[in-house]
Amino acid sequence: MKVMVIGGGGREHAIIKSLKKNPKASEIFALPGNGGMEEDCTITGIGAMDLEEHLKFAKENDIDFAVVAPDDPLAKGAVDNLEKAGIKCFGPNQKAAIIEASKAFSKDLMKKYNIPTAQFETFTEMKDALAYVEECKIPIVVKADGLALGKGVIIAQTREEAKDAVLSMMQDKKFGESGSTVVVEEFLEGPEVSVLSFTDGKTLVPMVSSQDHKRALDGDQGLNTGGMGTVAPNPYYTEDIAKRCMEEIFIPTIEAMNKEGRTFKGCLYFGLMLTKDGPKVIEYNCRFGDPETQVVLPLLESDLMEIFEAVADERLGEVEVKFSDKNACCVVMASNGYPQSYEKGFEIKIDKLKDNTQVFVAGAKLVDGKVLTNGGRVLGVTAVSSSLEQAIEDAYEGVKHVHFDNAFFRKDIGQRALKVERR
Ligand code: AMP
Ligand code: GLY
Repeated sequence: MKVMVIGGGGREHAIIKSLKKNPKASEIFALPGNGGMEEDCTITGIGAMDLEEHLKFAKENDIDFAVVAPDDPLAKGAVDNLEKAGIKCFGPNQKAAIIEASKAFSKDLMKKYNIPTAQFETFTEMKDALAYVEECKIPIVVKADGLALGKGVIIAQTREEAKDAVLSMMQDKKFGESGSTVVVEEFLEGPEVSVLSFTDGKTLVPMVSSQDHKRALDGDQGLNTGGMGTVAPNPYYTEDIAKRCMEEIFIPTIEAMNKEGRTFKGCLYFGLMLTKDGPKVIEYNCRFGDPETQVVLPLLESDLMEIFEAVADERLGEVEVKFSDKNACCVVMASNGYPQSYEKGFEIKIDKLKDNTQVFVAGAKLVDGKVLTNGGRVLGVTAVSSSLEQAIEDAYEGVKHVHFDNAFFRKDIGQRALKVERR
């Protein structure tokens, strides 16, 4: 079976490595992929947003199955485009991807179907938004409606900051059209948990929970990033909480999407906050998380290719989805300066790693047979072990065996989880 994976980061590398375990997936192509994935697939360089080229490539290469991983092509209708031509896909269609692509949509959905989330107001007129932040409780959260590379959320500690956030989105168009509509919502407190799930619209199977580390620096300081590391499972996510989330959030969400005529098929990501009033949805993503995937998929014992096909055929209820009870830790190695400006083009060298450790490459290119850094987040080192402590230790041991100039990583990935586990 010939499979193409659209996307080119660490998440996609983790998906590809997992798919490769099934000998049925005889050839795997990445669109575009990156220079660090060469051992695992064919890198095509075709842009993730180039829908016409996806179709052309699929036809010319007799592709049997496509996986669309990133939010932008999903929101643009990459799955619709391929399915129309008879190519089976894993990923939601454009109508369902709106659950991530528009925060105003997802907030309205939650309100309509009583799914717990932060209270909110939606504004399309700047003067109304400004008037609202004059009066509301502080701190307050201001969000651009559309996709903004994870940067369209501002937590305003003062009224002044809230006003600036509204102005930057609605007047200065800092996030382009994504900020024409803004959602202003209640500030929630509590530990955050990421839960990815497989769903075919009828059945929903949560994957093992995980914890992201979004800030650039140790101790959750510094700027927000795409994610500097992850652990799985997330120790805050107890069995009781999982049961509540299934009943109050996960099932109601897929049922709500069905009722809206927007059946969601693919990976639905629940960004949750465990508040004192119970678990609440902070955000939905219509895709696998990055770098959550880099700890979740290494714990998957069942066959990912089979699960993807079952989701596409709407028979997820018939296949086994089993996760190991081990722990995983992923440490992201970035270019010094990320998430602002940084240099690239340094050679990456990786020594032999322990059997429980693997590298997922995010930002690299191949030049004259050498793999060079080519992005902010360069790669993630994931280790799996029977204890969280050992997984963390082994991931950091792995980091010592990865070399490139200007490398930068957090030293405390998993430490908070470790403390919770020991309580
Ligand atoms: P989002 O892009 O919606 O996931 O928001 C990015 C990050 O902002 C989340 O991971 C949270 O840490 C934080 N955040 C978003 N909404 C809220 C909220 N209502 N209260 C507190 N923090 C929030
Ligand atoms: N790690 C957060 C995300 O993928 O959106």
